[in-house]
Amino acid sequence: MSIPNRVKLVDVGPRDGLQNEKQPVPAAVKIELVHRLQDAGLKEIEVTSFVSPKWVPQMADAASVMAGIERRVGVRYSVLTPNLQGFEAALKSRPDEIVVFAAASEAFSQKNINCSIAESIERFAPVVEAARVKGIYVRGAMSCTVGCPYEGEIAPERVSYLAGLMKGIGVQHIGVADTIGVGTPLKVRRAMEATLKHYDINDVSGHFHDTYGQALANTLICLQMGVWQFDTSVAGLGGCPYAKGATGNVATEDVLYMLHGMGIATGIDLDKLIDAGKFISDFLERKPNSRAATAILNKRLA
Ligand code: HMG
Ligand code: MG
Repeated sequence: MSIPNRVKLVDVGPRDGLQNEKQPVPAAVKIELVHRLQDAGLKEIEVTSFVSPKWVPQMADAASVMAGIERRVGVRYSVLTPNLQGFEAALKSRPDEIVVFAAASEAFSQKNINCSIAESIERFAPVVEAARVKGIYVRGAMSCTVGCPYEGEIAPERVSYLAGLMKGIGVQHIGVADTIGVGTPLKVRRAMEATLKHYDINDVSGHFHDTYGQALANTLICLQMGVWQFDTSVAGLGGCPYAKGATGNVATEDVLYMLHGMGIATGIDLDKLIDAGKFISDFLERKPNSRAATAILNKRLA
C-alpha cells in the first residue's frame, strides 16, 4: 500500500480538547474556535458532545454551541452521542455526523460510559439505527485500542472483537484511538490491522493522543498502511476526563506540517490554523502544545 496523496483531518479540538478543561470556556469562545477552524480550511469539525452534564460539565452547552455556529457548505459538523437521550437532544442541532464511542477495554467502558462493552453495543444499536434512518452518518470511536489506564496493554484480538461488534450494528466508519497515548508504531499497526479485518481502509481513521510523544510516528505508520483519515486537535488540546494523566490529541499543526512536508494535500492553511490555535491558547492562558506552532510563532516574532 502506498502513502496517500491526500489526507482528511477531523479537528476534534472543540470536543476532545475542551471537554478536558477545568475552567469554564464560554460557548462564544467555542463557536469562535469552530469558525476559525473552518476559515483555516478544516472540512470536518467535531464540535461537542451530548453527554450527561454531570459526567462532563464542560460539554453542557452542546446545544448552544451547535446553534451558534455559522455553517459553511462543504464542512461537516459531528457530535458525540452516548445513548438515545443524547442522540435525541443532538437531532435538534442537525449534526452531519454522530459518533458513538466504545472501548476495547472493559474497565474503561465502565469508567467512561458506566456500562460494559456488551451493554454499550446494545445502547448504541438503536442510536445507529435511528441516525441511519434520518440519513445521518455514523462514526464510531474505539478507545484504548493499545493500552488502558486501568487494564494495561490491550491485545489486538480485543480491538478486532469490538470492531466486529460496531460493524454488526451498522457503524459506518471506525476510529482507532490511543486514548492515553501509550502506543508505539508497531502496536498501533496491529490495532489498525485488527480493525481492517472488519472495515475497509476508506472507513477507518486514527485518533492518537500524544502523551508519550509517539503520535506523529503512529500517524506515519498508518499512512504507510494507506490510512488517510485522522483526528487531530488544534493546539494539541485534549484528553479524556476518565483517562487521568493522558494529554491531548496530536496537534493538528504538527500533523499538517508533516503532511505538507511529505507533499500530501489537506486543503488546510497552516498559518490560519496556527492563528486558530493561538486564539484558543491565549484564552486558556497557555502556549499551544504544538512544536510546529511554537516554531512558526517564534519565527513570526523574529
Ligand atoms: P449514567 O449515569 O449511567 O446514565 O451515565 P443514566 O442513563 O443512568 O442517566 C442518569 C442521569 O443522566 C439522568 O439524569 C439522565 O437524564 C442523564 P437525572 O435523572 O439523574 O437527572 N443523562 C443524560 N443527560 C444528558 N445527555 C445524555 C444523558 N444520558 C443520561 N446523553 C452516560 C451514562 C453515558 C450518560 C454517562 O456515563 C456519560 O455521559 N458519559 C460520557 C463520558 C464522556 O463524555 N467521556 C469523554 C468522551 S469519550 C473520549 O473522549 C474518547 C474519544 O476521544 C476517543 C479516545 O481518545 O479514546 C472519543
Ligand atoms: Mg480522544
